[in-house]
Amino acid sequence: MAVEPPALQVLRWDEPPDGPVLVLLDQTRLPAAETELVCTDVPALVRAIQTLAVRGAPLLGIAGAYGVALAAARGYDVDEAAELLEGARPTAVNLGYGVRLAAEAYRTAVEKGGTEGEAAAAALAAARELHRTDAAGSARMARLGLGLLDELLPGGSLRILTHCNTGALVSGGAGTAFAVALAAHRAGRLRQLWVDETRPLLQGSRLTAYEAARNGMPYSLLADNAAGSLFAAGEVDAVLIGADRIAADGSVANKVGSYPLAVLAKYHHVPFVVVAPGTTVDLGSPDGASIEVEQRPGREVTEVTAPPLPGAAAAARMSVAPPGTRAYNPAFDVTPPELVTAIVTEEGVLSPVTGDGLVELCARSRQV
Ligand code: MRU
Repeated sequence: MAVEPPALQVLRWDEPPDGPVLVLLDQTRLPAAETELVCTDVPALVRAIQTLAVRGAPLLGIAGAYGVALAAARGYDVDEAAELLEGARPTAVNLGYGVRLAAEAYRTAVEKGGTEGEAAAAALAAARELHRTDAAGSARMARLGLGLLDELLPGGSLRILTHCNTGALVSGGAGTAFAVALAAHRAGRLRQLWVDETRPLLQGSRLTAYEAARNGMPYSLLADNAAGSLFAAGEVDAVLIGADRIAADGSVANKVGSYPLAVLAKYHHVPFVVVAPGTTVDLGSPDGASIEVEQRPGREVTEVTAPPLPGAAAAARMSVAPPGTRAYNPAFDVTPPELVTAIVTEEGVLSPVTGDGLVELCARSRQV
């Protein structure tokens, strides 16, 4: 039996003598170095979110909640901190969810006449609870997702294609889509994990390949634009991806490059499965067009960046376009519900994907 690697310490709360801090595994430095980034205040955490040192929808929610707890524990204005955190990135709805959850816990404690210390403790307890819930949800999604694959593709070994990074690096547990692939691996059902490199920031090659290697999974990396020929060669049995926001009609915003995979999957009659916690569903966004897609700096496309080697102060950047080149760099794209075979949350599997079904699924898991 395969030995499980030690759990990744992606994010932790610490209380050294000079005050509480949030310690992050700096994902911009992976896979070259496992370096911790210590956030002593909210602006530092906002920078970490914007540079993608901490990233992925569920983890953004957890980080946002701890961010509010950090502000409260250090005596900063919690409303101001919550606003800064919630605005750090626009697409992943989990970020606002986590921030509101902790801020609400803080306010309720104040309204009940609690001291500043008691209110800060309430915010921290809410962040810890979200962290724990996310880990438990992750395990449930893995089980439900594997069950779905068993139904859709009974028997035989699976060749799964995934995009971006959806593993332990984005979660309190094993993640979302990656957790399903890992469960398939542990059940002896994974023949191959195809890892899209995920240009421009390489979450696939830097992070998913890193997690696949740690877990001893059979994987190969491909350039994003090689996916078409892979489908055409009949080498993909299922696509598994995560989500940053799922609109009320079942439209799915996820890392840019997900939508082309959904189109390919439809054409080649391959299941396209989205795995995400209930907190990623945003019934306030009626459809895909209403989801704000983050636009990132053009230099992420006009330059290639190598993660810094251990000891190096900064990443090595090299221009791959003539000076002055403008770039189109949306961080996410939106896949319409008719291209999605199923949505797996911790509460169940929705297939076919419909607005009514989504409302029903959400009603089982929502807290705020
Ligand atoms: O820009 P990132 O790296 O934060 O984007 C992350 C993704 O798109 C993930 O696929 C998504 O958050 C789902 S993670 C469970």
